[in-house]
Amino acid sequence: MLHGIDNDVVENAFARDVVVGLSADVKTLPSRWLYDERGSELFEEITRQDEYYLTRAETSILRERRRDIADFVEPGTILVEYGAGAGVKTELLLAGLRVPRGYVPIDVAGAFLAETSSRIASRFPSLCVRPIERNFLDTFELPFIGSGGGRTGFFPGSTMGNLSASEGKTLLMQMSRHLGDDGRAIIGVDLEKNLDTLLRAYDDGAGVTAAFNLNLLKRINVELGGNFRLEKFKHAARWNEIEKAVEMHLVSLCDQSATLCGRTFNFITSETVHTESSRKYTAESFEQLARSGGWKVAELWQDEDGLFGLFGLIRC
Ligand code: AVJ
Repeated sequence: MLHGIDNDVVENAFARDVVVGLSADVKTLPSRWLYDERGSELFEEITRQDEYYLTRAETSILRERRRDIADFVEPGTILVEYGAGAGVKTELLLAGLRVPRGYVPIDVAGAFLAETSSRIASRFPSLCVRPIERNFLDTFELPFIGSGGGRTGFFPGSTMGNLSASEGKTLLMQMSRHLGDDGRAIIGVDLEKNLDTLLRAYDDGAGVTAAFNLNLLKRINVELGGNFRLEKFKHAARWNEIEKAVEMHLVSLCDQSATLCGRTFNFITSETVHTESSRKYTAESFEQLARSGGWKVAELWQDEDGLFGLFGLIRC
């Protein structure tokens, strides 16, 4: 029992995170709550913005380097995907691999997971598809899928960048356990580059990223009975040099308060709520993270502009 927090708040994970996050001296909201239905739609729209180079760059690597990527992975592998996205990148990868035997997508969003799984199963009829409805940061075991054949982890989309160093390490260690001593992992990571390019990717001219960020306040209003005035907050993308991360913030445009779950939160002018961090890596800093979780970098594939990295990892 969290001291001073009512039962209905404790039982609702979203309410709990919002109340705790807004009660802190430095206000934060966990980024996973950005992805309700509208938020997921807005994120898909972000990936189509000119400024958001990440998805284009990663997709181009999967197309251009499919031979090299296939050579890195043993024939007959079981592909384990941590967080199943829309499945576009997965299909590109699977199409290049030599006779993959299985596909295990792991995602908390059940409906989304079922849709992606059945589409992949119909496109790759000989593939054994075994979805797991879980948060990939939880500790769990993989289902048994026949014997023989190695396993390959796939974690695209720069999602690694949203994890803290300790979450990243925990996930990499879980991947070591899941994928075994001969396991391989393919991880999509956004690379450090000039600040202007980085910041514009998180503050596009059409305002889609701003809408994505502000949608979190709308979600609080709708789901938690909040009374945030959306026009009194603005979106900001900021570089945190210590964390090497682009951060999304919601900036209060005046002194104001908002009420939700029977509590009032005060904001002073220019005070911010930190809603997401997207960490950026170099080959060296990513190697360090990989090693902390029991892996070493065997391959680094990049797009022609060197914006994004797809790392091929083996166990160390
Ligand atoms: C899908 C979480 C990796 O951090 O680049 C895009 C999300 N946030 N624009 C990222 C996001 C703002 C994206 N991830």
